[in-house]
Amino acid sequence: MQVLVIGGGGREHALVWKIKQSPKVKKIFCAPGNAGTAEIAENIPIVADDIDNLLEFAVKNDIGLTVVGPEQPLVKGIVDRFEEKGLRIFGPNARAAELEGSKSFSKDIMKKYGLPTAEYKAFNSANSAAEYIKIKNCPLVVKADGLAAGKGVLLCQTADEALAAVDSIMGKRSFGKAGDQIVVEEFLEGEEVSVLAFSDGQTVLLMDSAQDHKAAYDGDKGPNTGGMGAYSPAPIFTETMRQKVRDKIMLPMIRAMQQEGRPYKGILYAGLMLTKTGPQILEFNARFGDPETQPLLIRMDSDIIPIFEACIDGTLDKCPLQWKSESSVCVVMAAKGYPDSYEKGKSISGLKDANALPGVVVFHAGTKEQDGEVLTQGGRVLGVTAIGKDTATGISRAYEAVKKIEWEGIHYRKDIGHRASS
Ligand code: AMP
Ligand code: GLY
Repeated sequence: MQVLVIGGGGREHALVWKIKQSPKVKKIFCAPGNAGTAEIAENIPIVADDIDNLLEFAVKNDIGLTVVGPEQPLVKGIVDRFEEKGLRIFGPNARAAELEGSKSFSKDIMKKYGLPTAEYKAFNSANSAAEYIKIKNCPLVVKADGLAAGKGVLLCQTADEALAAVDSIMGKRSFGKAGDQIVVEEFLEGEEVSVLAFSDGQTVLLMDSAQDHKAAYDGDKGPNTGGMGAYSPAPIFTETMRQKVRDKIMLPMIRAMQQEGRPYKGILYAGLMLTKTGPQILEFNARFGDPETQPLLIRMDSDIIPIFEACIDGTLDKCPLQWKSESSVCVVMAAKGYPDSYEKGKSISGLKDANALPGVVVFHAGTKEQDGEVLTQGGRVLGVTAIGKDTATGISRAYEAVKKIEWEGIHYRKDIGHRASS
């Protein structure tokens, strides 16, 4: 079978790497890919949300399965368009992907079906949001309703900060159309965990747990990023908690979507806050997490292709999913300045030496190959991932590999995995 993977980040390199191990796969294309995917697949110069050209490519090239990485094409309806042409594609259709595409839609469903989530209210005018903020206790969280590349969530300690957040999203339109509506919600305290599950619309198959580090700097300080590192499993996520999350959150959500006439196939990713009173849902995403996918897939023992196919065919109840017992850690190496503006085009050295270390795979994110050199091409540049007998071994292996890699202006966190190993 020929497979097309859509996207060009660390998550997509990890997907291509895992798919490549399947005996069912003859060739992989990645659109647009990066310098890492170019080594194990054929990169196609089509951006991830150019649905017309992706569709034309898939039809012409006998693509037997398409796997979508990022959220934008899902929310724009890539699955609907491919299915209309009879193509097999893994991911939710546009109506199901709204679970990530609109925070107010997602919160309304959670409320309607009694799923645990922070108390909230959605607004489409700044004045009514301001009235609400004045009567609520702080801290509060103000969120742009639509997709904002992980940046549309503002944690506000005081009412003044919350009012400024409303003005930034609705007045200054810092996130464009994503800020046509906002959600203001109660602030939850606890430890975060990411729970990803495969779904065929009826059955959910939970992956092992993962935890990411969102803040830019050590000690969870600084601005939120897409994720500066991740590890799996998350020891805080016990078997009892896992069953609770499956039965009280993941399955009820899939049933709710079915009842709403929006059957959900693909990855259901729940961002959870483990609070004193139990797990609460921060958000649902309609795709694999980045960087959680890198440490998850390096631990996945089963062939991933039959799982994708079972999700499409509605046969997930018969599908095994095995994990390696070892632990894994992914350290993101970013460009100086990320998540704000950063430089591109710096030459990267040491990749081969890093990759040769035991248990290490260097997943590329924002990289490109030019004249035999690998250059930086994005904010998050590499996801140095290592597996070992426990988290401490994963950490030391990953950082040993990180030390071999150089370019001008590297930034990475030195404390990835600390919560799981202490
Ligand atoms: P979201 O995109 O909604 O998951 O929000 C991004 C990040 O903001 C989350 O990973 C949390 O760290 C934080 N966050 C979101 N909602 C809340 C909340 N209600 N209480 C505390 N932190 C939150
Ligand atoms: N790592 C967070 C996300 O993928 O949304």
